[in-house]
Amino acid sequence: MTLLCVPIFFDSLEQTARDVALAAEAGADVVELRLDRLTQGVALPQYPVPVIVTCRPEWEGGESTLPDGERIALVEAASANARYADLELATLRRHPDARTFLAERLIVSAHDFKGRPDRLANLVVEMNAGGGDVNKVAWMARSIRDNLEAFELLQTRQKPTIALCMGEAGLISRVLAKKFGAFLTFASLRDESATAPGQVTVHDLKRLYRWDVIGARTKVYGVVASPVVHSMSPAVHNAAFDQTGHDGVYLPLLVNPGYESFKAFMESFVPFEGLDLSGLSVTLPHKENALKYLREKGADVEELAASIGAVNTITIDRSDRRLPLRGLNTDYGAILDSITDTMRISRDALGDLRVAVIGAGGTGRSAVAALAHYGATVVVYNRTREKADALAAEFNGRTGRVVAASMDKLCDSCCHVFINTTSVGMHPHVNESPLGERAPKFTPDTVVFDAVYNPMKTKLLRQAEAAGAKTIGGVEMFVRQAAAQFEAWTGTKAPSDVMRRVVEQRLLHSAR
Ligand code: ATR
Repeated sequence: MTLLCVPIFFDSLEQTARDVALAAEAGADVVELRLDRLTQGVALPQYPVPVIVTCRPEWEGGESTLPDGERIALVEAASANARYADLELATLRRHPDARTFLAERLIVSAHDFKGRPDRLANLVVEMNAGGGDVNKVAWMARSIRDNLEAFELLQTRQKPTIALCMGEAGLISRVLAKKFGAFLTFASLRDESATAPGQVTVHDLKRLYRWDVIGARTKVYGVVASPVVHSMSPAVHNAAFDQTGHDGVYLPLLVNPGYESFKAFMESFVPFEGLDLSGLSVTLPHKENALKYLREKGADVEELAASIGAVNTITIDRSDRRLPLRGLNTDYGAILDSITDTMRISRDALGDLRVAVIGAGGTGRSAVAALAHYGATVVVYNRTREKADALAAEFNGRTGRVVAASMDKLCDSCCHVFINTTSVGMHPHVNESPLGERAPKFTPDTVVFDAVYNPMKTKLLRQAEAAGAKTIGGVEMFVRQAAAQFEAWTGTKAPSDVMRRVVEQRLLHSAR
């Protein structure tokens, strides 16, 4: 079983006792007491959970400035009531005798805060040959692919092993440590008490990333993005897995911008044995890269995703040894279904509608392509008129009519449906609306749809409500596109209400 270890900086016996109790309550199996700030030995009491003692020197990323001899003495004094003690491989090379007082409870560690150690394989060979009981290697991930090397170290371990990547790109090595049978993973008590970059909190590890149910066969999903840290997708999909009992975990996957990075990620992660990568969400800046990659591989791409030029969902069929990939775009379906459900009409009836699409970026493009595909008459309004003209020209006449119009004519538009796909009105600019201050000519049959979800009720939606129009918020679109992804990956109906609740709670929480 992979232990969940909470590191705690030791400042005083009282504070440490409090933090250890909190860690135990939060679900820690073991705590690491970091004695870096001590200058004299301390006798530790018995704590309610097993203890690892460590006094990390500055030269290995810690805070201790003591010379080796004093640090070793400090660890020895504290180790009487400890289950394990951690000493750096570099320290042990100079002081091999330190092993003797730590027999059967020595963690031998090596850290690199700059990147992957040059001689990683040699380090592990040296650790395996030495007298330690647990090997620990941790390094700063330069790219998400470094995690695979950490997983390989775990798969080929000769001793109980901790192999972790630090930094945002290394997060998955911390969560999936359990899947690959690591000796332990670290998680911080609070955001600010993390002892290494990229460490998640115990709360997030257990609640957000489903630590307790992760096993060797758990399927892995994730959102490929850069940046990825603020994505709500992990919370939404993991909640859906919880609700349906699907044996999966959904992770943020930081893949650097550029086609080559995306391709390198796909080529290494999809076939990696034991990872069970089973589905991907794709977002900025990789939606076009995903389409290009799938085409290059000769993979199946949904027709509308191809005509939009963007893939936001990839399925990976692991039941087939060739691991066939498929590219979808769940954004356009989410836009269409939000409208048809609100208007209680079928997709075919969209052909009778005039729809105003505000914005000509990625989301605007999805809306135009989808509505025109079903025969609607679409009017594109955009700040930069040339982009509206180009978008209209591209899709006009395929199935529906698409024209561009000047932004200052928006309020006089006689469309039945208005969709805002620009970022106007998005937090923190909550008092802005694509309509400006003018009262639009809405009727009770008009539908106003804002793809912006933060805030949940934008100024545009407030204007629409005041004019008696029907409204659709961005949360609806976000939840629908996520639900369609869930269904594409699992083949089961998505728990949309649970997913919606998670998004709303997150947005309410961030608004506080
Ligand atoms: P996305 O992929 O989310 O749609 P995008 O491709 O960056 O994002 O597109 C943003 C859209 O919002 C564009 O249509 C942009 O208008 P321009 O083409 O003139 O840049 C529009 N947009 C962004 N900020 C805006 C603002 N302050 N006022 C009006 N339109 C704005």
